[in-house]
Parts: sequence; C-alpha cells; structure tokens
Amino acid sequence: MTKNSNRDIIVVKNLTKRYGSFTAVKGISFSVKEGELFGFLGPNGAGKSTSINMMCTVLSVTEGTAILNGHDITRDKARVREAIGIIFQDPSLDENLTALENLKLHCVMYKVDKSVRMQRIMEVLEMTELIDRKDSLVKTFSGGMKRRLEIARGLLHYPKILFLDEPTIGLDPQTRSHIWKYIMDIKERENITVFLTTHYMDEAEYCDRVAIMDHGELVVLDTPANLKNAVGGDVIRLRTEDDEMAVAEIGKRYGLAVTRDRDGISFSVASGEEFMAPFIKELPVKILSIGMSRPTLNDVFLKFTGRALRDEELSSTDQLRETMKRSRAGLRPFGRS
Ligand SMILES: Nc1ncnc2c1ncn2[C@@H]1O[C@H](COP(=O)(O)OP(=O)(O)O)[C@@H](O)[C@H]1O
Ligand SMILES: [Mg+2]
Repeated sequence: MTKNSNRDIIVVKNLTKRYGSFTAVKGISFSVKEGELFGFLGPNGAGKSTSINMMCTVLSVTEGTAILNGHDITRDKARVREAIGIIFQDPSLDENLTALENLKLHCVMYKVDKSVRMQRIMEVLEMTELIDRKDSLVKTFSGGMKRRLEIARGLLHYPKILFLDEPTIGLDPQTRSHIWKYIMDIKERENITVFLTTHYMDEAEYCDRVAIMDHGELVVLDTPANLKNAVGGDVIRLRTEDDEMAVAEIGKRYGLAVTRDRDGISFSVASGEEFMAPFIKELPVKILSIGMSRPTLNDVFLKFTGRALRDEELSSTDQLRETMKRSRAGLRPFGRS
C-alpha cells in the first residue's frame, strides 16, 4: 500500500446488469484508490465477471455507471479503454500465432505508436520471462505461460488499471504462485492499480482490500485483516499447569469469556499478536503451551452470507486433486466457468 495516492481511480455507482427478469448485478457502489490491489471474492455465479466486463466496457450497462481514471464507462468508452488492460476469465490468445505475433497484433489494435512498439513488447516479454519463447507458437505453451503472455499483453499500452478476471483459474498451485509473483511485481514496480476477481480465498488474502460478492451484491468490503477481525479476532489456545486457576485469572484480569475443554483453554481476542506477549508475562500460572489461530476469509464469508464458500467451491488444492482423479478416471476435467 506504500505508493497509494489518495485519488479514487475507480468510482462505481449503482452498477446494475439485468438479463431479462434476472438481475446478475444488483446496483453495486464502491471505489478503488490509485495503486490499490483490489479484489472481488465470491462463488461462481456471484456476478464478478459481469461486473468487471461492464467496467471494462465490453458488456453494456443496464443501470448506473462507473468512472475509470476520470472517464465514464457509458459515455467515454474509448478513453476508458486507453486507461485499462484486461485479462479475461477465458483465454483469448490466438494459439496459431507466436507470442510475438500476438503482442504485435495487440499493439495494432490499441494503436501503440510504431516507434515504441518493439521496445514495449520486449519489455513485457522480459517482465513475464517469456523472451526466450517469443517466436514459439502459443499452442505449444503451458497453461501458466499462456496466462503470463496474456498478462504481458494486458500491460503493453501502459494501462493505469489492470483488470484480471480469475487470473489463475485452472492452473496448478506452483504456477498460481508464479503468476501471483508477477501480479505483485507489476503492482509495485509500475504503480498500476490492479482489480481482480477470484473464488480462491487464499488469493483474496493478497489484496489490499476485498469486496465479497454474493448473488449480485457486495456483501462487505474491507481489508482482509479487518474482515477477519470482524469475525471476532484471533483464537488463543493454551495449556497450563493449573487450568482451573488460569481460567479464573483470565476472567478476572481481562474479563474474557473462556472455553475449557480436553484440549485446554481457549478464548478469542481482537488482536492475538498484541495480546500474546504481555499475557504470557502477566499470567500467574505456568503456561505449558500456547498457540493462536486466525479466522480465515471462509469464516468471513460464513459470517456475512450464512454459508461457507467451501460448501459450493472446492478449494484450489481440492479442485486440482479432483481434476486429477477425474482425468485418471477418464472423465472430463472441470470446465472453466
Ligand atoms: N448472457 C447471460 N444471460 C443470462 N444470464 C447470464 C449471462 N451471463 C451471465 N449470466 C448469469 O449472471 C450470473 C453472474 O454470472 P458471472 O458474472 O459470470 O458470475 P461469476 O463471474 O461471479 O462467476 C450467473 O447467474 C450467470 O448465469
Ligand atoms: Mg466469472
């Protein structure tokens, strides 16, 4: 968050999308600061892609609008497009062209000045470590390389805002962390505002702020840390030489409600990090072991929607395992949705 200015580079007002009688996006409003890494987290069908596609001017708006870098998405599409780079949920490279040819094509479409084209292309290929493969056909690339090439392409015209719709969907864990490294690097080095969607809770953790989306609405919006604090802070668990006395002391000294079971004592505090050190020093009972666990974004989703994100969305690791199982069993792998 170091380089954030205080300028709202994205201001969304009552953005709405209806398909017939079905409302996919129900009048959402929020803003994003310049330099922020901002994420939409939500299950499939929540309306994330629909929102992002309207903001990128590739889908018409039913009601409301958004202002991107000072330009209205309904009135000034061309200026908005100049300011943004987009990586769509579904792959959009020409597989029968080389990496270099794909990037050149994009430069033509985005009217990148001829005199700087090759320099920019080399720059983004360097950044995504694809320079050695620039003359290979895209169809020979791995999933992760294709995604990197799409990121490279999205950066070609020096966008102020980079939109990434499910940037790592369907990629293996190692490639996912590789892609994330590029996203973080780009944000830091270029001070680009990054707006992404994901249904992976662990990825939402990387964001400066996260909006949880469900059924076309923004349920809650804050930093991952604040969202988790809202769940009830950190859980402290400990064992002592005299649990009975410890429970009494914790009640007396801190006024906390303590649970005692066969695993020892547990209670929750707003910030475990701040609480822990003085607590260990002050408690007049010998502590045998102590640990802290944080609520996850899944706990946050549960608190605000009443359901677990996991109930409907397999975690990425589960999904990978499931995909392998399916492919071994000769079933179709999960489709991209
Ligand atoms: N062209 C369309 N016509 C009708 N319904 C659509 C269309 N596109 C998306 N939807 C519906 O809108 C909802 C939101 O979809 P989407 O934005 O793709 O969700 P997400 O990206 O969060 O998974 C879903 O219920 C989806 O079925
Ligand atoms: Mg989507």
